[in-house]
Amino acid sequence: MDELRMLVACSSVHGSTAEVARAISLTLRRTGIETDVLPVAEVQDVTGYDGVVLGSAVYGGKWRADALAFMDRFGRDLRERDVWLFQSGPLGHSAQAIVRSLPLNVSLFAEHVGAKGYATFGGKLDDQTDDPVAKFLARAGFSGDFRDFSEIRFWAEDVARETAMHVVSARNVRAANQVARMVAWR
Ligand SMILES: Cc1cc2nc3c(=O)[nH]c(=O)nc-3n(C[C@H](O)[C@H](O)[C@H](O)COP(=O)(O)O)c2cc1C
Repeated sequence: MDELRMLVACSSVHGSTAEVARAISLTLRRTGIETDVLPVAEVQDVTGYDGVVLGSAVYGGKWRADALAFMDRFGRDLRERDVWLFQSGPLGHSAQAIVRSLPLNVSLFAEHVGAKGYATFGGKLDDQTDDPVAKFLARAGFSGDFRDFSEIRFWAEDVARETAMHVVSARNVRAANQVARMVAWR
């Protein structure tokens, strides 16, 4: 049986979502899945992967444009693989308690590719920032790191378990069909 391979692709401006992506990738690797972790814009092809985890930072209620472009570029190929989505954004101490739905366009994409699930993780806002809107948010008390890496690891373990079960059983069905065809041919 070939190794399972997954891609973790993400869009991040200030690096905190990229750290979430790396934590997800590390957990997948610990479960024995070969994993690449890449910024969405650097992904050339997804066909070598059994599953794809796609994540984006949320700005102004939206996923980043390069994450949306990724969906356009690979939508057809993603329909044939296990897809999981995550978004990172909510700031504040109740961030982890928020059950935040996906933006409508991302939700439609999730339906289009038959995504297996999604998660919303808390975000991180640095108070040492030059961006005026970020500065405003920081002054309003939203700066801090609201990512919960235990929650992120638990989610990644679920992703690993469900992808492994699904892909291995799909491969078994293919292998069984192949044997059945060979037997029929003889
Ligand atoms: C200008 C600005 C707008 C933001 N808008 C949202 C938003 O609409 N929803 C949300 O959940 N988080 C929002 N955030 C929080 C970011 O998503 C959070 O800081 C995230 O961790 C940034 O990810 P990055 O470091 O990967 O760029 C905003 C942050 C900034 C600075």
